[in-house]
Amino acid sequence: TAGILASAHETLVVSVSLSILAGWMTWKTLPQLKQAFVNARLCGIDLLKREKPVIPETMGLPTAIIYLITMFVFMPFPFMAWFGGKTGPQDTNMSGIFPHHKLGEILSAILAIQSMVLLGFADDVLDVRWRYKVWFPALAGAPLLIFYYTNCGVTDVVLPLQLRPYFGTNIHLGPLYYVYMAMLIIFCTHSINILAGINGIEAGQSLVIAVSIIINDSLYLFNNQDPASLEAHLFSLYFMLPFAGVTIALLLHNWFPAKVFVGDTYCYFAGMTLAVVGILGHFSKTLLLFFIPQIFNFIYSCPQLFKVIECPRHRMPRFNPETGLLECSTVILDAKKPTSKLGRFVIKIFYSLGLIKAFKCSSNEEDNGRVLECNNLTIINLILAYCGPMSERDTAVSLLCIQFFASVMAFFIRYKLVEYVY
Ligand code: UD1
Ligand code: MG
Repeated sequence: TAGILASAHETLVVSVSLSILAGWMTWKTLPQLKQAFVNARLCGIDLLKREKPVIPETMGLPTAIIYLITMFVFMPFPFMAWFGGKTGPQDTNMSGIFPHHKLGEILSAILAIQSMVLLGFADDVLDVRWRYKVWFPALAGAPLLIFYYTNCGVTDVVLPLQLRPYFGTNIHLGPLYYVYMAMLIIFCTHSINILAGINGIEAGQSLVIAVSIIINDSLYLFNNQDPASLEAHLFSLYFMLPFAGVTIALLLHNWFPAKVFVGDTYCYFAGMTLAVVGILGHFSKTLLLFFIPQIFNFIYSCPQLFKVIECPRHRMPRFNPETGLLECSTVILDAKKPTSKLGRFVIKIFYSLGLIKAFKCSSNEEDNGRVLECNNLTIINLILAYCGPMSERDTAVSLLCIQFFASVMAFFIRYKLVEYVY
């Protein structure tokens, strides 16, 4: 362990320096690309402003490219100990042979992120339909899963203490584990994309999650775990530090009032990068804890995503030009076609749990005062329904606070509650 830490120390210094450089480059580059993006029609209307300005979109593309270049430059550094005929005793197998599997791991991760950026850009330019783009992340993640299959291939899951008397310590998931990883990748990417629509929120949530992962990795480094998990968390740090660097720069430009939009490219890029470190760093469950607000938002959105309830093109909040504040946007049930029985049932459950705010109820006796208009099913609208109206900036700050407290809770669950389960 001491050997790994000693060589990792220098590599981490390089990683931190490159991350700062990458952030600075992103900060400088984005403003210069604005006009070129508008000329190429890579732009969108800021719908939540009075003047409805046209803003360059897809700024996630240059951000991701700077990130990828940083990773290319960084790639030799973890292997410095093996260069110039030296052998690296730091390797976990202590053999001193060049660890090709480690290089393969980094390459497969970069390939997956790069493929995701490409498909995300295609989505931004072509506005691909949901039924197709849902699968994009799984396609892009294929190199990662193939690497996982050929290298570590661990598909065992450790069971909670309470279940061990019945099923043993581990359960072998086999192919199902690959299905789980593919679903994780799909979830991470799209869940960031659907928690979007106000300035700063996409990059902001990704930054909070990335910083949480960095803190979690650092805890491992300081607590001197076994060599394998130490290397896994170092790997995660090498990918997260530059990601945090470029994301901070992007966020500064995307913060209210936004001068650039991040585009779907960034949402996919961010989701994939976070999923990659979770999978290859073997902490996918901890990763999911950091995604608690996104999980809630996804489950809450399901009735609209699966068309049980009508889903408009945009579910972002509504801008009130008189007050200049955001209010929750609403969906009128039965507007295009009558809501199905299942839809009515879901709305009834949500309503009784206080998870939706009704704006119009039926006065008809036999309908039992059925909800006819309610807020769109996103966490942003839910907050605005109860705490709004709010300015766009305050809404973004509130959501990032929720993300922050979710991370605090995640650490509590991961390091305190987990003792009762694992
Ligand atoms: C997802 C959401 C959609 C939400 C949209 C906002 C689902 C199923 N889809 O769709 O409800 O409205 O993201 O990003 O939940 N925009 C702003 N201000 C911002 C960010 C974006 O006005 O701070 C607008 C701009 O017009 C921009 C557009 O949203 O052009 C981008 O939408 P897009 O990313 O294409 O929407 P989706 O990801 O398909
Ligand atoms: Mg989007």
